[in-house]
Amino acid sequence: MIKSGKDIVFASKLIREGKLVAFPTETVYGLGANGLDAKAVAKIFEVKERPSFDPLILHISSIEDLEVVFAKNTPPLILKLAEKYWPGPLTIVSQKSAKVPDIVTAGLSTVAVRMPNHPIALKLIRRSKTPIAAPSANIFGRLSPTHSEHVRGQLKGVDYLLEGGSTDFGIESTIVTVAYGKIEILRPGAITPDQIQIDFPEVEVVSSSTEKHIQAPGQLKSHYSPRKPFYLFDKIPDELPDYAALLLFGPLVLPKDSKSKVVLLSESGDLLEGASKMFSALHELEADDQVEQIYAVGVLKKGVGLAIMDRLQKAAYRFTGATDDREIQV
Ligand code: TXA
Ligand code: MG
Repeated sequence: MIKSGKDIVFASKLIREGKLVAFPTETVYGLGANGLDAKAVAKIFEVKERPSFDPLILHISSIEDLEVVFAKNTPPLILKLAEKYWPGPLTIVSQKSAKVPDIVTAGLSTVAVRMPNHPIALKLIRRSKTPIAAPSANIFGRLSPTHSEHVRGQLKGVDYLLEGGSTDFGIESTIVTVAYGKIEILRPGAITPDQIQIDFPEVEVVSSSTEKHIQAPGQLKSHYSPRKPFYLFDKIPDELPDYAALLLFGPLVLPKDSKSKVVLLSESGDLLEGASKMFSALHELEADDQVEQIYAVGVLKKGVGLAIMDRLQKAAYRFTGATDDREIQV
């Protein structure tokens, strides 16, 4: 059983000692270690069973901390992005400083950084007096944790779990970088490309192709998977077996006589609400003995729908091989 509580001072001491602390952010729970201590960071990979080629995000608590993690001459557009969205669910990738150990970046010359908008996370980082490297606090490839219970149920070898109930967004941060003067979205998330384009009208915002950058699991075709067959549909399937549960982002008309369990994430079809409950619902269905398969009906790839579909398609990939809309079974 993981030791847990609300003692931020104790948690920050553990971080200083090179130990692992799971903590809440506004997106998902992170599994944190001192981001400037290579040995401590190595433990994250061990506990998470994460392949070492996958770089981590450094979490900071003030814009000034950027001096520690980013190289000198960071492009002004990077700083503008930080000023606009931090603290908040945006991760920014830029050239790293010499202080950032290679294990954090998996040998890349760039590092991913964000300032989470969560009082517990911010206090922990401030108290620890170091950037905190933290991937989502789940076993590699499994569902992201949006509640402290998800962390408790999944990870062993964590020295302390900071309790913070449910997270707000329930979907990981948007990852961006700046290349050739353009803002490139490397992973869709809570902050949408449309929003970034509105906030930066003079800059081109592009979605990057996965091959161009790394090999990041968030960018792998299969990721975030429940441990039960998971299928993604673009409308209510004609046949709904009793042993299948149906995950919906808004009310839809079900076939008559259907007895399968339905989980409605938002009565009003609000995608932000749906995104915030998605992983949590999947955790529950994964644990539900009555449910053998999970069906989900997808949403329009607009706004936060982009991030939702990114996660759903990755979750379904190993069961269907579907990578885009045309291949989703109907
Ligand atoms: O909301 C979040 O971002 C959560 C919370 C805990 O902050 N963290 C999270 O971390 O989702 P993780 O490790 O599960 O996903 C981080 C993603 C990975 O896909 C990783 O490969 C990518 O960030 N990444 C890290 N460094 C990178 C870099 N230098 N260039 C491109 N992608 C990078
Ligand atoms: Mg993750």
